[in-house]
Amino acid sequence: MDDLIKRAAEDLAAAKNVAALTGAGISVESGIPPFRGKGGIWEKFDPMEFAHIDAFMRDPAKVWNVLISEMKEIVDRAKPNDAHKGLAKLEEWGILKTVITQNVDGLHQMAGNTDVIEFHGTFAWQKCMDCDKRCETSKVEMTQIPPRCDCGGILRPECIFFGEMIPQLHLVRSQKVASQCDIMLVVGTSAVVQPASFMPVISKQSGAKVIEINPEKTPLTGTVSNYLIKGKAGHVMKRIIKEVGLLRDL
Ligand code: APR
Repeated sequence: MDDLIKRAAEDLAAAKNVAALTGAGISVESGIPPFRGKGGIWEKFDPMEFAHIDAFMRDPAKVWNVLISEMKEIVDRAKPNDAHKGLAKLEEWGILKTVITQNVDGLHQMAGNTDVIEFHGTFAWQKCMDCDKRCETSKVEMTQIPPRCDCGGILRPECIFFGEMIPQLHLVRSQKVASQCDIMLVVGTSAVVQPASFMPVISKQSGAKVIEINPEKTPLTGTVSNYLIKGKAGHVMKRIIKEVGLLRDL
């Protein structure tokens, strides 16, 4: 692992336009469980019963009571970890330009990244299904379920449910970022959900290096990614940042 950390630091220090694609794994060290694998959210809740748009439309109270209220509690408490902070540092140093995240937790922005494409939307805001008025999730009173807007309409999170389209603007911009970067850093994603997991493929096809950070192999490993640094995102990023810092001081 030491060699790969040094290699990644050298690659990043020499790069001019780095993009990152992040997934649930980057927020695990912030106390947010991933979706798949042991202890994952989809082990506890059937996504088709709680995270599909048809399930929400059929019974919003059930989805609010179970999935959304639990997510609200977890996300309200979460703070950026060393991996989020590391990506913010790379932006501060002018190395990283854009984060494409599948996460809806807002932790990249909290860490200081300014160009974050929220591919699957955001959990930080709710929108009224009748009048479109928005309100911050942290300010939503849980006294009535489902919570309602002043106009009486039901509130829904601004993240996308299964069965909904990726916002067109996010998709187009992500494809552009992925095709123009010289390194795509893929952190904490199982890379099984399309079209997000196609972004590193676009980068690779456009001539970029693809670097993965994940404790496990993914479908990108050995096919799309140039190398995988096997480990937890916070731990690995902290070490990479230290090495990049040393190279910058030379
Ligand atoms: N550091 C880095 N990676 C980790 C860590 C960690 N500490 N812990 C787990 N991982 C890795 C796992 O090995 C796995 O590859 O994070 C990945 C998490 O995968 P998923 O749970 O599938 O999360 P993600 O890839 O973001 O899922 C994509 O699926 O259900 C949807 O909309 C949801 O945006 C989500 C999408």
